[in-house]
Amino acid sequence: MSKTAIYPGTFDPITNGHVDIIERGLAIFDHLIIAIALNPKKAPLFSIDERIEMIEESLGRHSKVSVETFSGLLVEEAERRNARVILRGLRAVSDFESEFQMALMNRNLNSKIETVFMMTGEAYSYLSSSVVREIASMGGSVERLVPKIVSVRLKEKFAGTGLTDEGVFPA
Ligand code: COA
Repeated sequence: MSKTAIYPGTFDPITNGHVDIIERGLAIFDHLIIAIALNPKKAPLFSIDERIEMIEESLGRHSKVSVETFSGLLVEEAERRNARVILRGLRAVSDFESEFQMALMNRNLNSKIETVFMMTGEAYSYLSSSVVREIASMGGSVERLVPKIVSVRLKEKFAGTGLTDEGVFPA
């Protein structure tokens, strides 16, 4: 039976840390669904279409990967897409508590779906999408942190944004 895993997140934007988990996940699973969560608690910088474009371009054409969006419960999305595994990356001990809670809650909601954790590559353990957005918004270089397309899109996003002196992100 083919093994499908779902890799959820906000991906605002995708970083090299995400790509690392995806590439290593592909060595284990037959198919990986990258599931962009429409999270009402987050006010994303990039639209869904922009995030999809950046993910697709970062990974190149890949028959083993699909990019989807979802709202609502992750376990329901996994079930709908016949994924029995949720793939998550762990960056540091600080991730553990919330990931532990999420994995147990997801198991509670659907015991057939298992969460599998991978340790993020050490070069990416300090990386997050918001850190990348912040650096880019202040004109810093993010080229070693994100795929090429993402650094290009970030530059476009922040070109002439008139960022305030306090460094506040534009809405
Ligand atoms: N490398 C670099 N950065 C990484 C990373 C990696 N391997 N893995 C995660 N990150 C970063 C992300 O960029 C993100 O950064 P940001 O917060 O600065 O934007 C941060 O870590 C958290 O990302 P992630 O763990 O993907 O969380 P999320 O908030 O983007 O997504 C969902 C969380 C979508 C998985 C979760 O909210 C969910 O399942 N929602 C659906 C609703 C549901 O089912 N709820 C019940 C669950 S108990």
